[in-house]
Amino acid sequence: MPARLLTASAPDLHQAVTLLRDGGVVAVPTETVYGLAADAARPAAVRRIFAVKGRPATHPLILHVADLAAAKRCAAQWTACAEVLARSFWPGPLAVLVQKSAVVDPIVTGGRDTVALRVPRHEATLALLRQLHAAGSPGLAAPSANRFGAVSPTTAQHVLSDLGDAIDAVVDGGGCDVGVESTIVDCRSETAVILRPGGVPIEAIGDALAPHGITAVLSSDLAGTRDPNRAIASGMLASHYAPRARVDVFEHAAALEEARRGYAESGTRYAVLPAPDDVFAYSRGLFASLRACDASGVAVILALLPPPTGLGLAVRDRLLKASAAR
Ligand code: TXA
Ligand code: MG
Repeated sequence: MPARLLTASAPDLHQAVTLLRDGGVVAVPTETVYGLAADAARPAAVRRIFAVKGRPATHPLILHVADLAAAKRCAAQWTACAEVLARSFWPGPLAVLVQKSAVVDPIVTGGRDTVALRVPRHEATLALLRQLHAAGSPGLAAPSANRFGAVSPTTAQHVLSDLGDAIDAVVDGGGCDVGVESTIVDCRSETAVILRPGGVPIEAIGDALAPHGITAVLSSDLAGTRDPNRAIASGMLASHYAPRARVDVFEHAAALEEARRGYAESGTRYAVLPAPDDVFAYSRGLFASLRACDASGVAVILALLPPPTGLGLAVRDRLLKASAAR
């Protein structure tokens, strides 16, 4: 059965809640990307997410909650770092990693004793979450609503074209505002460790924590994201967010243009990824543009990397992963 396409109207959201409470999987809008959600209180439904995505069962999911109080119920230790970041950026594109409480089923966290918690900034999904909490659920476990390793969806149509036959419904909440996934911050120790650059710039995280004497560092796994030379040369980044076409990334427009001419001369089918100067527009359109280039059947997508500041760091990270050799 093809997925039901639901709107953000109250009766449709009520249907979505019913499906979720019955153990269904429903794609939901957030400000970052669409998530593939299951009621975290239903392990069988959460297991279905892994099956639908083709995702290894040891890869933990983000647990979405309606507010700070709901987040705290899922944490065994709520640190000062988590408190400051939650109060500064929720609802918003930030996930905090803390020690999990018994409320969180281990299926959600891939068997780990930590949980990544996030309050999304989207009214429709917040309404779903409030209704689920009222019924006693800890929240919605939801990874991005794409097949494992593929480009994340930023519209309901993207979800339908990827997973339409495998899920129960999609709530259409319009295009995603931010367009890249949340920033994930490990809040367990004295120092905040950024595990994934995302919708909240790392500079903003540092600024929020500094008055509380907490420093933020980028996880050593991400060093390549910032350092252009190392990142491009290393080829060590795990391939992810990858379209079918190969992705070539460039630091400078002149180098991109030279490569483009080479492809044109050799008759290689290529597309140049739109790269707006406004990094918010770049981020918002990134995944849709990658999908559109891919759909045009080209062999190569040429992409200009934005500078590694603000949202640019997350855009670089996704492009570098898309370009990693497969
Ligand atoms: O913006 C987002 O975060 C979107 C929307 C739907 O909220 N979700 C998302 O989920 O990007 P996903 O599953 O595609 O990426 C979640 C990332 C994974 O890289 C996962 O390894 C990491 O979060 N993660 C989640 N829980 C974790 C944990 N307990 N320990 C370490 N990493 C964790
Ligand atoms: Mg994902």
